Amino acid sequence: MTLFSDLSLRPEIQQALIAQGYRTPTPIQAGAIPPALLGRDLLGIAQTGTGKTAAFTLPILQRLSEPHERVHAGRVRALILTPTRELAIQIRESITAYGSGLSLRSAVIFGGVGQAPQVTALRGGLDILVATPGRLLDLMNQGHVRLDRLEVFVLDEADRMLDMGFIHDVRKVIATLPAKRQTLFFSATMPVEISALAARLLKNPARVEVAPVATTVELVEQRVIFVPAASKRHLLVDMLGKDPSMDRVIVFTRTKHGANKVAEHLEKANVPAAAIHGNKSQSARQAALEGFRAGEVRVLVATDIAARGIDIDGVSHVVNFELPNIPESYVHRIGRTARAGAAGVAVAFCDLGEERAYLRDIEKLTRVPLTVVEAGPLSVPPPVARPQPSAAKPAPQQAHRPQRREEPNRSSGDHSGRERARRDSAPSSNRGGGGGRDRSREASSGPSAFGDLVSALNNGPAGRKSEGQR
Ligand SMILES: Nc1ncnc2c1ncn2[C@@H]1O[C@H](COP(=O)(O)OP(=O)(O)OP(=O)(O)O)[C@@H](O)[C@H]1O
Ligand SMILES: [Mg+2]
Repeated sequence: MTLFSDLSLRPEIQQALIAQGYRTPTPIQAGAIPPALLGRDLLGIAQTGTGKTAAFTLPILQRLSEPHERVHAGRVRALILTPTRELAIQIRESITAYGSGLSLRSAVIFGGVGQAPQVTALRGGLDILVATPGRLLDLMNQGHVRLDRLEVFVLDEADRMLDMGFIHDVRKVIATLPAKRQTLFFSATMPVEISALAARLLKNPARVEVAPVATTVELVEQRVIFVPAASKRHLLVDMLGKDPSMDRVIVFTRTKHGANKVAEHLEKANVPAAAIHGNKSQSARQAALEGFRAGEVRVLVATDIAARGIDIDGVSHVVNFELPNIPESYVHRIGRTARAGAAGVAVAFCDLGEERAYLRDIEKLTRVPLTVVEAGPLSVPPPVARPQPSAAKPAPQQAHRPQRREEPNRSSGDHSGRERARRDSAPSSNRGGGGGRDRSREASSGPSAFGDLVSALNNGPAGRKSEGQR
């Protein structure tokens, strides 16, 4: 077993990890930290809640605390991009904690708040900047920050950062980076065509794959209840009333409006709830999250804005009030529970219409069939049969996923419901931090993603697909 003391990290960093209560590195940390310390580019894939943040932060802290030139005004040495403001804030907090014994300067910038304090923080130069792409580009365009001396570039939630919602902004950022740099990509999911793009952005990367892409954590018990859409709100209140083990619950809805409606319904039923989504002010978003973290709010009702990366202790249940049409989103949503070795329960409310197709896609991606339970107290679930005849069948346990889903613009009538769902949740034009960019298209993926990545790397540029072909 690898120990932190085996990883050649500075004593100040090891002390900070002890103070955090970390005894041994998680598998992704043991696998990723050594090649990252050697300065290699890296693609790290590991399940939700398994310590990817420290896997990229610790090598950065180690590298940047070596003797170095003075940091120049407005310049940054390491940049970490994230899809949401709340995740950016959280990663900055981890950097502060892991780097507490070092004298490195870090800051976080994101949209939805005044830029003046962020500009002040950038003025003298920074060792580490955590940012959402929109605000970063704004401040770059205004001349407040330059990335021409960047040493390390990180995309957390890399597949999300490289998909439609963010790729244009991320490309603009990458265009300003020096060619000689270290690039680190991390995620729990990596759809196949995005892995090809990732491969083009990494130079001779170490691939550290703790489990096949999109593997869910074993300690999360995954259940599905088949319920008509109109009965979902009633079912949710009923469950919360009957099951005291549901003490810290995140409920995911497909739309911002839906999140508001569910939160209002819960409040009316005397369940302390708060909504978080891209139409809320930044202060309301943070207040909802803090209230939930502090245990004042029993139920956080969220869009996918809270699906990725957010780390809150002791989330007992994740309820997919509506199933996501993008199967990777399910993996991230349920990953808000059962983190860092804890157990948790994920309950999907599957309607009797188009959501059954989403359920099939999810089970194909994760290779884990959900246990069907009847509506009722969930602590003792009675397994029941699925509705027949058109009900989703559990995907067989298999090493490789069957077929890739059709591209949405080529899909046939059979996928029309899914396309409609995508249009409903199309990204809005909010800049800076992902507010309003709740979702864009991701494709289904599986273990073969790494086959593609390997062949893309082996074939060299000629063998890779051009932008237009993807
Ligand atoms: N070596 C360790 N020992 C104990 N706890 C750890 C260790 N590393 C990280 N943790 C804790 O595990 C939790 C999850 O870590 P982190 O948020 O980095 O996960 P992640 O892999 O990035 O998940 P996600 O895919 O959801 O973003 C955090 O609360 C963190 O403090
Ligand atoms: Mg993370």
